[in-house]
Amino acid sequence: DWSMSAYRAEMSKKIKEQVGTGRVICGLSGGVDSAVAAVLIHEAIGDQLTCVFVDHGLMRLGEAEQVVTLFRDHYNIPLVHVEAEELFLSELEKVGPDPEAKRKTIGRLFIEVFDAEAAKIGGADFLAQGTLYPDVIESVSFSGGPSVTIKSHHNVGGLPERMKMKLVEPLRELFKDEVRVLGRELGLPEAFVGRHPFPGPGLAIRCPGEITKEKLDILRKADAIYLDEIRKAGLYDVIWQAFAVLLPVRTVGVMGDYRTYDHVCALRAVTSVDGMTADFYPFDMNFLGRAATRIINEVKGINRVVYDVTSKPPGTIEWE
Ligand code: XMP
Repeated sequence: DWSMSAYRAEMSKKIKEQVGTGRVICGLSGGVDSAVAAVLIHEAIGDQLTCVFVDHGLMRLGEAEQVVTLFRDHYNIPLVHVEAEELFLSELEKVGPDPEAKRKTIGRLFIEVFDAEAAKIGGADFLAQGTLYPDVIESVSFSGGPSVTIKSHHNVGGLPERMKMKLVEPLRELFKDEVRVLGRELGLPEAFVGRHPFPGPGLAIRCPGEITKEKLDILRKADAIYLDEIRKAGLYDVIWQAFAVLLPVRTVGVMGDYRTYDHVCALRAVTSVDGMTADFYPFDMNFLGRAATRIINEVKGINRVVYDVTSKPPGTIEWE
């Protein structure tokens, strides 16, 4: 793509000019935006960049390993992998089931852990963020006007100003589809570039009720099977987001000669252009039956599967 290769070269030059000989720190979320920003900045200034991946234990199956492998082995970018699962889970177990309390706890811990890592590196002059054009527009048009907070938002771009670092935001002029083109231009694997969006608070908001490691492990398995079936059916790229939700409800079932009493798993899939509105995806019933059968047979702890047919509005995409 000619225009993206020109953009890439121009941005590289701009980043060098802005940063000089300074040190840059970049938080990776496992998502496309922060990954593209990091690779672009590394291309411009090499090892003046350090990436920090705060692994909160709320990622999907195998996802944390993928991030580490991609950055360390494939790109050779200095990466600090902070294994903070125990910290996050022990704090989350204390907060109970309230969705906002869960979100706020995750946001607070994320900042604490990131801060501590930045200090260990000896501080940095710049903080890199994968802010996109729509984020810039949204924060401008929302300021001043009356606003209702549906959910407190958290992502790696939400680090506080008190961190006193200047920002490097090489994606500020781009839309999501352009970031994907740039990602391909930079050689990021297709599986990474085409990934569905994933929320900062991760699986915690797909596990209504109290969070436990056991529930998260059950959810991860069901989610992986569901996504596998979606890929096999060739539907991954026509869907905006698809995921499993583990409900805090147990129901009775029968398996062989035994009565079971296990969790309900809800499946969600939506189409959307920007995440602001969304339609539930009208799967073929055979597809849903297949996914449900596999989940119940292969995941211990789930004995019933339901499909969410709510669009946004009135529903939100995530359950919390
Ligand atoms: P909702 O559930 O509000 O989600 O309809 C709209 C889009 O935003 C994502 N989402 C988040 N992304 N941090 C993020 O980075 C968050 O706290 C967060 N909450 C929701 C959601 O996955 C969907 O794409």
